[in-house]
Amino acid sequence: MCGIIGIASSKLVAQNIIHSLKKLEYRGYDSAGIATIVDNEIHEKKCTGRVDNLEKLLFKNPSKGSLGIGHVRWATHGIPSQLNAHPHSSDEVSVVHNGIIENSTLLKKNLEEKGYKFKSQTDTEVITFLLTDFLKSYDLVDAINKTLKALNGSFALGILFKKYSNIVVGARRGSPLAVGYGPEENYLGSDSYALKSMTNKITYLDDGDVCILTNNKIEFYNSENKKINKKILTLSEDKQFTDKGDYKDFMSKEINEQNITAKTCVKEYVDQLRKDINLYNFPINPKDIEKIVLIGCGTAYHSCITAKYWFEELTNIPIEIDIASEFRYRKINFNNKNLYVFVSQSGETADTYAALDLCKKNNVKTCSIINVVESSIARSSDFVLPIHAGPEIGVASTKAFIGQMLVLFILAIKISEIRKEINKTDYENKIDDLQKLPDLIKDTINYCQDNTPIIAKDFIKAKGSMFLGRGLSFPIALEGALKLKELSYLHAEGYPAGEMKHGPLALIEEGLPVVILAPKDRYFEKTISNMQEVIARGGKVILITDEDNKIISENVRFTLKIAKTNEYLSPFLMTIPLQLLAYHVAALKNCDIDKPRNLAKSVTVE
Ligand code: M6R
Repeated sequence: MCGIIGIASSKLVAQNIIHSLKKLEYRGYDSAGIATIVDNEIHEKKCTGRVDNLEKLLFKNPSKGSLGIGHVRWATHGIPSQLNAHPHSSDEVSVVHNGIIENSTLLKKNLEEKGYKFKSQTDTEVITFLLTDFLKSYDLVDAINKTLKALNGSFALGILFKKYSNIVVGARRGSPLAVGYGPEENYLGSDSYALKSMTNKITYLDDGDVCILTNNKIEFYNSENKKINKKILTLSEDKQFTDKGDYKDFMSKEINEQNITAKTCVKEYVDQLRKDINLYNFPINPKDIEKIVLIGCGTAYHSCITAKYWFEELTNIPIEIDIASEFRYRKINFNNKNLYVFVSQSGETADTYAALDLCKKNNVKTCSIINVVESSIARSSDFVLPIHAGPEIGVASTKAFIGQMLVLFILAIKISEIRKEINKTDYENKIDDLQKLPDLIKDTINYCQDNTPIIAKDFIKAKGSMFLGRGLSFPIALEGALKLKELSYLHAEGYPAGEMKHGPLALIEEGLPVVILAPKDRYFEKTISNMQEVIARGGKVILITDEDNKIISENVRFTLKIAKTNEYLSPFLMTIPLQLLAYHVAALKNCDIDKPRNLAKSVTVE
């Protein structure tokens, strides 16, 4: 994870580096640092904690220089500390790094034998000393190449050199890196979002690429050290999403935007006049698909579980779901009649990208469902289905989850229609239902906004909590528990309600909050029976249902009665109270809502 920035300019750069680092904080926020070149010397400043701390440091003691690199860290090797914060500099070079150097222990040992003294516990410092060492015998390009060849693992790098004091160098293998073209200055950044306030002209580095930036020129080299040209992209304007507006934090803004996400997505994919879904150019004819494999991590994985239920209901295609970090290391029998679908908000998640790469190496067809259309996963997939959620800044994924589920649902009904496994009326009814979904989401947000803060209080004092659901509500229970854990640091478990008596029921004791997801679907009665089992053992039940029957609410501590919709669309509405519940518990505990501890938005390391 970690975020890196580099600027080669003719003006002072520190302020713009700080500004861009703030935008990259979603990638890591345990320490921050900056290095600039002043009078042919490297000047480094770093501190623990947020970019605000670094800004205060620079306020007291400003960094000069028209060439600089900056970093926000998410610790992999070594605790968050000033010494472990990036940049890592020698007298000759200064390096910022995103990724993991897997052979750093061995490299470090060799460098120590040569007399290099390491100050940090990081894997990055080996890059600093390798470069320093190679520069003694080689010119710039060869020293960079020799260094990169010596590294195993993943990296995006920003490098300053004392001897070459008019350039910033960038290099990428496995971790993302963008280059921006500005007026009389050029930029490096972990993503285009960090560069957006400075330029909308961007190029993405591919694996193995190296770039050399001056204030008026950018040169690119590929992994064979050949000079190459790269395509310049123009970014679109999406200011409304990257501004908090009147909201206290991005998470509440993003929860409130979910009806807009749904509306945009439906508009992009559904042709209401023709009552059809605009999805063409599948990499495999859907009629020939033998199996669909859905792969993701965290919240994205939960959207894959939801989709399994939809695909199985709507098609005869066997469906497999997989967590990317497991998929990438298993022995997989690849089949070119299977469609491998990757779900990711950022499109940069290291495990998901590696799983996709494995598929590509095995010559099978891939589809990605992503939010960031310029991301590595999107660029490497055969078929890309954007979720159109706009930038999601809060580390806890909310509107992206709604978008991912929606695109997966749309994909399922379209494939079913092409394979003639759904009849015309049913297909058209589902398209009609999709039109109504954004308003239902809006109503649910409004209703739950007022009702969840009081429920949140019960969770603060409890030892833990449970989230239970059956069928399509099972993945939503998992998602509710993940949201609560991630935001409030309280233990929570999500389970299929029917699984309770096989172990988890032992956890139920007087006062334990248990959230029961019980839409009026085919599982309703069974879920309510499971709820009674919880009540009988003293659990404090929070029932979320769309059923009116008052009797089911007896002995229930709180009932949230959400809008009624078709059974298969209930996950969209069931998700909202759980997001808001997690939000309010975290707010009561004064947790950092947008940046939960130990986490980062874009998980670009294994
Ligand atoms: O960017 P991705 O969707 O690939 O990220 C996957 C997970 O890291 C992510 O969903 C994570 O679980 C969220 N922080 C959960 O809110």
